[in-house]
Amino acid sequence: MIGLLRRLFGGGAPHIAAAHPRDAAAIAALHAQSFHRGWSDDEVESLLTDGNVLAHSLRVGSAFAGFVLSRCAADEAEILSIAVARRHQGRGLARQLLNMHLGRLAALGVKALFLEVDENNTAAIRLYRRAGFREVAKRPNYYPLPGGQTAAALVLRRDIA
Ligand SMILES: CC(C)(COP(=O)(O)OP(=O)(O)OC[C@H]1O[C@@H](n2cnc3c(N)ncnc32)[C@H](O)[C@@H]1OP(=O)(O)O)[C@@H](O)C(=O)NCCC(=O)NCCS
Repeated sequence: MIGLLRRLFGGGAPHIAAAHPRDAAAIAALHAQSFHRGWSDDEVESLLTDGNVLAHSLRVGSAFAGFVLSRCAADEAEILSIAVARRHQGRGLARQLLNMHLGRLAALGVKALFLEVDENNTAAIRLYRRAGFREVAKRPNYYPLPGGQTAAALVLRRDIA
């Protein structure tokens, strides 16, 4: 059974838990692999110790494999970032991470959740649409691309019942 789980999940069963400040270096490293502009360990640590930030970490077996962070303000929140390590992508782990995070935000009294996503980020847009997010605005020329091009940011919203 353990062998089957290892084969299915590439090293062990997935486990999602509230992120701890000691996850800061692992989150910063994965953020740097996932986005053009990285976060320093200190930036991540200050987010993880901010009382208005909700953060979850994903582990597969004992390996750090993903994270999601949101900042709450009154009854609204914004997803600041979500990422799953490349070797674990495409297995529904971001969906599980986001679902757990949404449930926790709902329990905290958040009524509406917002985020910005690059219009070309197909995987993220599929993830968010499947989770019930809808486009409410578009910010042209928002993300700089190599070669002087730009991409628009889509602003997505999901109401939490
Ligand atoms: C976006 C991201 C978190 C998705 O993680 P994941 O664990 O692979 O996602 P899941 O397996 O849960 O799949 C979620 C959806 O994305 C789709 N998807 C996953 N990888 C994809 C790919 N390479 N191309 C197209 N769609 C993809 C899945 O098919 C699924 O959609 P569906 O339910 O309609 O089939 C991951 O690609 C990532 O970390 N990207 C880099 C960081 C990033 O861009 N974060 C979002 C910033 S707004």
